[in-house]
Amino acid sequence: MINNKQYTDLAKKFGTPLFVYDGDLMLERYRDLFRFIPYPDLHIHYALKANYNPALLTLLRDHGAGIDAVSPGEVVLALELGFAPEKIIYTANNMTDAEFDRVMKTGVTVNIGSLSRLKKCAKSHPGARICLRFNPDVCDGDNAMTMTGGDLTKFGILLDDADEAKKIADSGNLHIVGLHEHTGSGLQHAESVLKSMDNLMAIATFERFPELEFMDFGGGFKVPYKEDEIPIDYVDMGSRIAAKFNDFCAVYGKKLIMRFEPGKYLSAECGALIVEVNTIKHNRSRTIAGCNSGFPQLIRPVLYGAYHQIVNLSNPDGAPARYDVCGNICETGDRFAEQRVLPEIREYDLLMIKNAGAYCYSMGSVYNLRPMPAEVVICGNEVADFRKALSDEELIAQILRK
Ligand code: LLP
Repeated sequence: MINNKQYTDLAKKFGTPLFVYDGDLMLERYRDLFRFIPYPDLHIHYALKANYNPALLTLLRDHGAGIDAVSPGEVVLALELGFAPEKIIYTANNMTDAEFDRVMKTGVTVNIGSLSRLKKCAKSHPGARICLRFNPDVCDGDNAMTMTGGDLTKFGILLDDADEAKKIADSGNLHIVGLHEHTGSGLQHAESVLKSMDNLMAIATFERFPELEFMDFGGGFKVPYKEDEIPIDYVDMGSRIAAKFNDFCAVYGKKLIMRFEPGKYLSAECGALIVEVNTIKHNRSRTIAGCNSGFPQLIRPVLYGAYHQIVNLSNPDGAPARYDVCGNICETGDRFAEQRVLPEIREYDLLMIKNAGAYCYSMGSVYNLRPMPAEVVICGNEVADFRKALSDEELIAQILRK
């Protein structure tokens, strides 16, 4: 674990804003899953969309993880980093014919989530090996925008359409080797994971899908973001998952591979964004701590109302006061936290925004033409990788295609 003094030293060495990733913590979370879910043939496919830092991906690759990719770009990156095609599942939605053909050519398993795409696949790629994504019909997640189950969302084939899917697949002699569901991100209840499994397993009969090799139950394992959040009992949940799947396989008549595709669980907690406060302003009703980063670099609070813990690295024992922690972007909503009680913040203090390893850098943009921050990966107390920020000139050269 990186301690606060090390975070401060890294910020001084590399400058701020700075994303710091604790590679050891990410691997610990990876190993947790094997500890929690006592199923011998468990495969973890990291949801690359959460954080595509190449050094983190390489660490996961070296420890046997696969990849859940959602765009041709993510497939290209994973292949480039040496993930074998059979370790990658492609779960794009609303893909074009060209994207579909391109990924099929790589040997990566394509996960099809609509009858429309399935029909096209039966015509264009007869005999192909594919996975089918079903909508588990369970609604859960930390936010309405990240729930993927239920018929208010665009994802997956309806469970009711299982026979229709089978008919279409047979028309092109497609081999259905996997079934998939993803319920949402930040699942609040263990019961949701178990219920989604039940719903998918209910349609996964041997008679209907006799060639299954794996079942993929998506991602969504929640991590605590708030100080007082009650964590899910993953040991209990994991043993129930394993027992359920064992029972299913006994009925199905074959031991299948069990897959999960976590993003947040593996990478959220291992990341921190360190920013420097440059302006303290006392408005009539609010004290504003203005810092040298902004929502394009960590958008979750603005987009989802997400809560990220903030630590004042420079003045941990300061007298508590209430702050709006704001960024440097020309929008009122540009806040990392509103009315947050923190130890007194002074100009030039370093603040650490926690749980910034998932869906922060990867959802970043250069809005207001500020380059994304540098990233540093720490393993065994050493700097394992450093990726510098673009300079303003380099960013502008990209824009001008110079
Ligand atoms: N599998 C599929 C098919 C997915 O769509 C996702 C996430 C995952 C796996 C991984 O879910 P996770 O384990 O990371 O919860 N930007 C949002 C989260 C969006 C998740 C999108 N899909 C956030 O910052 O909360």
